[in-house]
Amino acid sequence: MRVLITGAGGQLGKQACLGFAAKGDEVIPAGRAELDLSAPQTVADAVAAYKADWVINCAAYTQVDKAEDEPELAFRVNRDGARAVAEGAKQGNSRLLHVSTDFIFAGDRSLPYTEADSGTPISLYGQSKWEGEQAVREVLPEALIVRTAWVYGVHGNNFVKTMLRLMAEREEIRVVDDQIGTPTWTADIVTAMRTLIEKEVSGTWNFTNEGVTSWFDFAHEIISIAAQRGHLRKVRRLLPIPSREYPSTAKRPNYSVLNKEKIRPVLGYEIPHWRDSLHSMLAEMPL
Ligand SMILES: NC(=O)c1ccc[n+]([C@@H]2O[C@H](COP(=O)([O-])OP(=O)(O)OC[C@H]3O[C@@H](n4cnc5c(N)ncnc54)[C@H](OP(=O)(O)O)[C@@H]3O)[C@@H](O)[C@H]2O)c1
Repeated sequence: MRVLITGAGGQLGKQACLGFAAKGDEVIPAGRAELDLSAPQTVADAVAAYKADWVINCAAYTQVDKAEDEPELAFRVNRDGARAVAEGAKQGNSRLLHVSTDFIFAGDRSLPYTEADSGTPISLYGQSKWEGEQAVREVLPEALIVRTAWVYGVHGNNFVKTMLRLMAEREEIRVVDDQIGTPTWTADIVTAMRTLIEKEVSGTWNFTNEGVTSWFDFAHEIISIAAQRGHLRKVRRLLPIPSREYPSTAKRPNYSVLNKEKIRPVLGYEIPHWRDSLHSMLAEMPL
């Protein structure tokens, strides 16, 4: 099938290009130069012109803190841009898979969020992504929307890469231990997205790796595995801290766990535990 992937230079977009191509799909990677979601008026016609079987929308304004200072741009990309991608998919007779986030939730509870839960965002990034989901559903009710969380991979910037850099540079690293979620490897997200497409389902789906952890425990595991693999290690102390000691512009959900009861039987394979996927990702990283 012919697959248009937006945000093709991002961590998930790049992995999606590789993963779909490995399945034999004809992949059309579109970066900001080809499809700029901050100019939504140009996007629908451009998307339609590709005449793809599927459009995978991995493009997003993802700078969570900066979004508090430039909400207009965040909403233009994540809400209006997402709507324009959906309009383009409709116009070009393409199916659409749109990527969403755990940050649409407040994280003020202790039971995993289901696909039926409505957004309760506490940041402007989260609000822009929630309104983006709604815009996509309005235009294309049959669109696939995949909500994921705590994304990392070999490509692009993410928490794992930051920890690898810090462990080589610093003697002490402080990491918050009161935000709970599930680290999720881009390669696993792409496998799940491709499987959902094969299964011809539509609607909203949660996907993360299995297991639940804190950023502190995640950091501990990254450093332990990387050190075993011979990564340069200067760090001597990894300290857990509460979020209030790591001030940030945007509020983040304390509890970001997504319920996967809906997706497990549909995928038909065992979703990897986050720790196993972290091992796999680090094995692919040049240390
Ligand atoms: N990262 C996470 O932890 C996480 C968690 C849950 C869900 N998600 C969702 O997963 C999806 C992929 O995120 P990611 O982690 O891969 O983020 P990423 O690495 O920041 O990639 C985002 C991509 O979007 C592109 N982009 C930004 N503004 C754009 C614009 N105006 N027009 C076109 N492209 C634009 C970026 O291009 P440039 O490279 O040119 O900036 C980049 O290629 C997003 O929908 C995000 O909300 C991410």
